[in-house]
Amino acid sequence: MNVEEIKKDFPLLNNRDIAYLDSGATTQKPIQVINAIEEFYKKNNANPHRGAYTLSIEATEQYENTRTKIAKFINAKNREEIIFSKNATESLNLIAYSYGLENLKSGDEVVISIMEHHSNVVPWQKITKKTGSKLNYMYINDKFELSDEEIETKITDKTKIVGISHVSNVLGTINNVEKIIKYAHKKGAIVIVDASQSIPHMRIDVQALDADFLVFSGHKMLAPLGIGVLYGKKEILNKMTPFLMGGDMIEYVYEQDTTFAPLPNKFEAGTQNVGGVIGLGAAIDYIEKIGYDKIQEIEKEVISYARKELSKLDYLDLYLTLNEKNHSGVISFNIKGVHPHDVASILDTEGVCVRSGNHCAQPLMRFLNIDSTCRASFYFYNTKEDVDRLVKGLNKAYEMFKKYITKN
Ligand code: ALA
Repeated sequence: MNVEEIKKDFPLLNNRDIAYLDSGATTQKPIQVINAIEEFYKKNNANPHRGAYTLSIEATEQYENTRTKIAKFINAKNREEIIFSKNATESLNLIAYSYGLENLKSGDEVVISIMEHHSNVVPWQKITKKTGSKLNYMYINDKFELSDEEIETKITDKTKIVGISHVSNVLGTINNVEKIIKYAHKKGAIVIVDASQSIPHMRIDVQALDADFLVFSGHKMLAPLGIGVLYGKKEILNKMTPFLMGGDMIEYVYEQDTTFAPLPNKFEAGTQNVGGVIGLGAAIDYIEKIGYDKIQEIEKEVISYARKELSKLDYLDLYLTLNEKNHSGVISFNIKGVHPHDVASILDTEGVCVRSGNHCAQPLMRFLNIDSTCRASFYFYNTKEDVDRLVKGLNKAYEMFKKYITKN
């Protein structure tokens, strides 16, 4: 399939005359995903695990079959290692509260990178304060990358938990998670990989990576909003206590005490987003049908073109690694001296959708000495024409604002 054929599967992209360059925030959804959700609600809707009647049993089967599909998709050893959540944020909070709070003590350290999303920063601030442990950062170099030296300096014998985004949602840098995991394990720490910005673009193999935990959101990989995944090694998950308490995660409830259900139910309290799970299953089928090789081939061409065209605009500051091999589908930029919200508003008048702001990464912004950026993020339905439209919109914005730009 070529991009034009692929685009036909995305109703929104056919219904709106836009260059959608905000897939880092959420991707558009193919008709196959939309249909799968509709089918579920039209034909199979019932509450899984709760009914002895056929409809509920069928809903349970669809829900649990998707768990198995996800386990295969990321090569988890056991299907019970897949826990459904609302999004990557909830998965990270679950790990912080259920693992961090119970295992960290004074003198221990948690190490994260300066490019983490707030969802992999703020829970650790809270948990390290509560446990008297310390939160340390790995900083990036002038190539917007984490050097081996930085990794080896910051991860020490005191480190008990390392949290790292596989791909930065601001810089697009692909972090060397293989190296980080190996090194952290040597030091006796466990590693949490935030794969939210990587799994839409590249195959993840949790066993090959040897990640202890890995989280992602469905909505950044074609699935509906509000469904996320937590992968954790069974032996670790088994030792953790539940994060949320309620229905379906219990074994026995007495007046004063409760015993909990085995994995994975232990971590899935209350009625789940079953439609979202079904949609995520359909999204995985769609990605598998196109294939990561094809996805990467299309993205590589468009992103290389975008890097080349944006580099020609000398009024832009670009925040991206020069090492193309180490760069995924995100490009952050600013028109020097112009607020990114103003730029994004002008781009909107040209039908170009980009995100502007701090991208839930304020520590990174502060480190880079900026408040915010515009961010164009790409997926395999984007074309070179989308990039041309972005460039045209940027030229328009620059022409409008250049008389106000003060040179220092
Ligand atoms: N975390 C998402 C982003 O980077 C919303 O845009």
